[in-house]
Amino acid sequence: MIPVNKPKFFGNEKKYLLNCINTSWISSEGPYVTKFEDKLSSYLNRKYGVAVTSGTAALEVAVKALNLNQGDEIIIPSFSIISCLQAVTNAKCVPIFVDCNYRTFNIDIDKIKNKITKKTKAIIIAHIYGLAVDLEKILKVCKEKKIKVIEDAAEVIGLTYKDKKCGSFGDISILSFYANKHINTGEGGMILTNNKILMERCKKLRNLNFQNKKRFIHNDIGFNYRMTNLQAAIGLAQLENINKIIKIKRKIGRIYNTLLKDVKNIYLPIDKYDFSQNIYWVYPIIIKDNSNYTSKIIMKKLASKGIQCRPFFYPLHKQPALKKINNLYKNQIKLKNSEKLYIKGFYIPSGLALKYNEQKKVSEEIKKIFN
Ligand SMILES: Cc1ncc(COP(=O)(O)O)c(C=O)c1O
Repeated sequence: MIPVNKPKFFGNEKKYLLNCINTSWISSEGPYVTKFEDKLSSYLNRKYGVAVTSGTAALEVAVKALNLNQGDEIIIPSFSIISCLQAVTNAKCVPIFVDCNYRTFNIDIDKIKNKITKKTKAIIIAHIYGLAVDLEKILKVCKEKKIKVIEDAAEVIGLTYKDKKCGSFGDISILSFYANKHINTGEGGMILTNNKILMERCKKLRNLNFQNKKRFIHNDIGFNYRMTNLQAAIGLAQLENINKIIKIKRKIGRIYNTLLKDVKNIYLPIDKYDFSQNIYWVYPIIIKDNSNYTSKIIMKKLASKGIQCRPFFYPLHKQPALKKINNLYKNQIKLKNSEKLYIKGFYIPSGLALKYNEQKKVSEEIKKIFN
């Protein structure tokens, strides 16, 4: 089987892990946690980093740190991971869904403005599948209307938007270090901000809201989302090689672009546009309308040839989980791009350890199906 993702370690991972064990520092109190926070926040030109257990945890803490009221509205992309939605509903806020652009997968910025109401207090902007959102316009509107911005850069560590790194925009940004991300700590995430008050709130929230003086008296409910020294040790070692990692991922993306360029009836990912150069977090393929194939059929065919793929996100506004939360599911809307992408999109193996002959095999099998 060619797995959809296989990570690779090239640097000091083993050395730092061994150091954790030799020094007995494996918990979240160990020194690699702050080192990783400091190094990564300075790489992204942020003042503060708060390491947590996952990107999902980072989103949950980030939303909670904004201290919003029950019923406040948060705009989110309909084409994204459930983590964006549950961060909103767990904070007892109302998600307002915006459709995506069909080819960039990213939130359609022109559709945001008319979703803003007096109740809109925040927006989660996620960069999807390796391409940056055109942030400028949204940031301007949010500033004017005092809407807080959470930038979800989980999938795009190292990507730039107009020469500034993603993860450095908005009031708070979040990252993920799940095994398929550019920096992989097994599981992990980070919150980044330039705002000291927000950083302090996030640090408290990740650590059960323990107080400095009266440790076991809690003024608010928090989470145990502390990252361990072991995870941070791996993260730090990976960060030392971030440029190499980005180079490999881009190379994988561009090899597929060449190998698949003559395949009929599929859209390949956009390599670059004015303000962004694809970082190829994954290699997404969209089946064109003139083919009757769905991604489900194609993934089944490829699986029978030993090639593991993944379907695209299921649109958030259609998630059955919403049926269990107040009346959110009743307010159904049609967001055609995200709905169609689920049916027509899938992504193919593109992990760091992928070999050229595996890319050739994947491409040949895709060619056989479509040509
Ligand atoms: C856009 C986006 N946000 C958040 C997350 C959540 O990250 P994690 O898997 O670390 O919880 C992911 C995960 O892939 C993601 O794609």
